[in-house]
Amino acid sequence: MRFLFNSFIICFLFISCERDIPIEIPIEPIPYNPTFVEFLSPIGFPPANIPIDNPMTEEGILLGKKLFNDPILSVNNQQACVNCHMQEFSFTDPLQFSVGTSGTIGKRNSMALVNLAWGTSNFWDGSTSSLEEQALDPVTSPIELHSISWSQVINELKNTEDYPDLFYKAFGVVDFDSTHVAKAIAQFERTLVSAQSKFDLFIQRKTNLTDSELRGMDIYMTEKGDCFHCHSYPFMTNHDFHNNGLDNEPFTDNGLGEFTGESLDNGKFKTPTLRNIALTAPYMHDGRFSTLEEVVEHYNSGGIESSTIDPLMKHVGKGLGLTGQEKTDLVNFMLTFTDTVFINNPIFQQ
Ligand code: HEC
Ligand code: HEC
Repeated sequence: MRFLFNSFIICFLFISCERDIPIEIPIEPIPYNPTFVEFLSPIGFPPANIPIDNPMTEEGILLGKKLFNDPILSVNNQQACVNCHMQEFSFTDPLQFSVGTSGTIGKRNSMALVNLAWGTSNFWDGSTSSLEEQALDPVTSPIELHSISWSQVINELKNTEDYPDLFYKAFGVVDFDSTHVAKAIAQFERTLVSAQSKFDLFIQRKTNLTDSELRGMDIYMTEKGDCFHCHSYPFMTNHDFHNNGLDNEPFTDNGLGEFTGESLDNGKFKTPTLRNIALTAPYMHDGRFSTLEEVVEHYNSGGIESSTIDPLMKHVGKGLGLTGQEKTDLVNFMLTFTDTVFINNPIFQQ
């Protein structure tokens, strides 16, 4: 009893006289228990490239989706990734050149974000090799979100009510930084899987194509049009870089060559996916064509000869010689790449 009494006095003195010395209350560590998500490839797709140091978790994906949609990443809190990458347009925008947060216009067309889990490089010129690396770029880019610095963005996020908790749940860190932002966005981007177009269902023998679509497929998949070497199934891209004969030298945009500094790479661009191509106009790295008919006209003409034109553009100078009906068939076939399940999937919405 006396001992207790003494302790009480000591405690009392301690509290009253030395209030600025923090009393140590044992804090239960908040459990960090993320729910791991297994990435399942759709039928006909190879396994995806999920980095070992950024496994997908429900908490990471949710955080990534929130960040993707949140203008807090931009300089004036007015623009988010989603403004240039909208679901209804297969996560691109309908403009020739997107307008950045500060009103600056870039020189390239925004890209659709589809099946990025299988990608090998990002951007028209391939200048980033992982989604984690890519996501760091738009936040401070003057033609995109244009934030002054990452430390400023991180400070803003830390001063919100919800983000510190969400970062803890996703990564088990209190002192989170730009790499965690990028990891979360990359996790969300990997969920943007499109594999339920009419053409996918046709491959799986679940639906038929019309006669016109079948004729178009024949042009696309054979020597006649020879589209399939570069725009190959299932991604409708070979993830490689080619010069498809849009321009003569000197190129206004050197594309891959701008990144590698090799003149042999000048005029080469990443083959874009043709998934949801009906929704992603305008077309090409500079959005020069507004319709698929114009694109087909370009290939039908054979393209423009230059030192880096791709050998697969073997019709250069001659053209494909497609009839009016064949051009329509080719366009109709490309329309079967539209995946309405993908563009309406509520899971991608904030
Ligand atoms: C102002 C419009 C704009 C904003 C905002 C924007 N992007 Fe982009 N995005 C583009 C453009 C334009 C390109 C193509 C740039 C290039 O190749 O030079 C692109 C390319 C990409 C790519 C490459 C896709 C591929 O297949 O290679 C990814 C991934 C991407 N953006 C994700 C994001 C993320 C994540 C954010 C937000 C942090 C974001 N973007 C914000 C316009 C924008
Ligand atoms: C040598 C490889 C190659 C071949 C063959 C090829 N393409 Fe392409 N395609 C590309 C590249 C590379 C681009 C992007 C070029 C650029 O923007 O500079 C592209 C762009 C496109 C686009 C615009 C995509 C977008 O999102 O802007 C369409 C549509 C297209 N091709 C359809 C076809 C069709 C149809 C055929 C067959 C007649 C075909 N391609 C043959 C490589 C090829």
